[in-house]
Amino acid sequence: MRLVLNRAAKKNALTNAMYGALTDALARAETDRSIRAVLFEAEGDVFCAGNDIGDFAAAAGDASGSRDAVRGFDFIFQLGRATKPYVAAVQGKAVGVGLTMLLHCDLVFVAEEATLSAPFVNLALVPEAASSLLLPARIGHARAFAMFALGEAVDGKTAAAIGLANAAVPRADVRARALAAAQALAAQPLDAVCATKRLMRDAEQIGAVMKREAVSFAERLKSAEAVEAFRAFAERRAPDFRQLG
Ligand code: COA
Repeated sequence: MRLVLNRAAKKNALTNAMYGALTDALARAETDRSIRAVLFEAEGDVFCAGNDIGDFAAAAGDASGSRDAVRGFDFIFQLGRATKPYVAAVQGKAVGVGLTMLLHCDLVFVAEEATLSAPFVNLALVPEAASSLLLPARIGHARAFAMFALGEAVDGKTAAAIGLANAAVPRADVRARALAAAQALAAQPLDAVCATKRLMRDAEQIGAVMKREAVSFAERLKSAEAVEAFRAFAERRAPDFRQLG
């Protein structure tokens, strides 16, 4: 199953409709035995600029609760339940959930010139998709904290060197390389592949961490710091957190 992010004009920032379509597709992949691998790809120069920040701002102002953010969490919890193998072709920048979703992919191919970042704290938010567990497990606390709290990005070659990706290849080759890997996986015995993925992930722990993150994330979304961060993004200026004390 090929899932192609196709909102290039907005750098493939994920909207609620996109989360809904992705969640439904991944749920189908779990139950349909004809789907032997899932391949994430994207159109345009950016793989995914993360959650749509306009949707974040709307969720922050929604007094009835963060309904808009919840769609994103449907996608995230579906990622957490994955047993089918996922492959990603990261042809450009991956930001926020664009990176954290890769922690649920089993084979990741990244363009040498791509950068991966998880600048949740820049938006006064906290990590999601169990990345508070999975990113430090993958690359160590110090590097993960710098990515989360300072918004530091890693380039494609570094991503491959530190275990965030299988290989960094020229941008033009990323999708073909990932497709070949997905096809190779699809030729493997399905039940053995899925059992291996299950064994390599503690799904219960991942789900528990996601729940804990979601509580904190929902609180942060409504904070004065986050409101300032979203306003600054819309106004194309740097946020000023010091004035908030
Ligand atoms: N949410 C909503 N809109 C977004 C977006 C996002 N996460 N990321 C990009 N866009 C929109 C921009 O507002 C702009 O819209 P406009 O053309 O109507 O003005 C359009 O996509 C192009 O973005 P732009 O910033 O001009 O492209 P760029 O190539 O200079 O930079 C990024 C690309 C991805 C580096 C940059 O857009 C960015 O940093 N986005 C925010 C990423 C982020 O913080 N995500 C949340 C992480 S938790």
